[in-house]
Amino acid sequence: MDTTKTLIDVDDLTMAYGDFVLQQNLTFKVKQGSIFTIMGESGCGKSTLLRILTGLKAPAAGTVFYSDMNFWESSYKKRVQRMQRCGVLYQSGALWSSMTIGENIALPLQQFTTLSTHLIQEIVDVKLALVGLKGFADYLPSAISGGMKKRAGLARAIALDPDIVFLDEPSAGLDPISSRMLDDLILELRDSLGATIVIVSHELPSIFAIADDSIFIDTETRTMLATGNPRMLAKNSDNIKVKQFLSRSSSLLDENHP
Ligand SMILES: Nc1ncnc2c1ncn2[C@@H]1O[C@H](COP(=O)(O)OP(=O)(O)O)[C@@H](O)[C@H]1O
Ligand SMILES: [Mg+2]
Repeated sequence: MDTTKTLIDVDDLTMAYGDFVLQQNLTFKVKQGSIFTIMGESGCGKSTLLRILTGLKAPAAGTVFYSDMNFWESSYKKRVQRMQRCGVLYQSGALWSSMTIGENIALPLQQFTTLSTHLIQEIVDVKLALVGLKGFADYLPSAISGGMKKRAGLARAIALDPDIVFLDEPSAGLDPISSRMLDDLILELRDSLGATIVIVSHELPSIFAIADDSIFIDTETRTMLATGNPRMLAKNSDNIKVKQFLSRSSSLLDENHP
């Protein structure tokens, strides 16, 4: 796997809602096969950035390249085609409560492929096994735990074998053990699918455990304060806010933490 190739290249991005400029001058690269974290306090614009990267909201200025594709300059059709190779788990990305776990995961396969019902069923089973939910296809979301729901959401996000998986705070609200399991799963998915993972998180244990690279965006200055490996930033950043954010629990930087 080529870990040095840039897959997403964001240059001088401005995000706004009407006249309200949320963030500007965001410039960063996401390397192929890496786990990239979008960090920052609540309300700084992490989910909005994800919406721009996944084609739901146009930037006010700046460019987003997927390899050599100028994403927002491309036609709607081309953008949709690019997004069909992405898996997304939005922050509010709940499962359809009236559908079983299996039906939830089958949905993107039914919508975007012409595969037979039988083959879709097989893929659903493989994806469920991948996220540790073998045998849960017929359960309704209400019958499984929060951690299991997140894993089911992840299974749905990877149903179409995406080359990039976007996750918005997947471990929010989970207990530490479930959260840790989800981190392990994300690492495993990156390794087994060879996917690039972009993950919004403000959970330090998770960030330090899985992220290769990151961007830190700030509400007050409305721009990025840092980009780089979070563990390195925690040690070496000369920005006080970045340092504070990343040192909320310095014990996480112990050498023996994986
Ligand atoms: N559709 C919208 N219209 C106007 N403002 C919005 C909209 N969505 C989010 N915002 C505002 O943009 C800011 C950033 O939101 P968001 O990207 O969800 O932040 P984060 O994910 O970092 O918590 C917040 O102040 C929020 O109120
Ligand atoms: Mg958010």
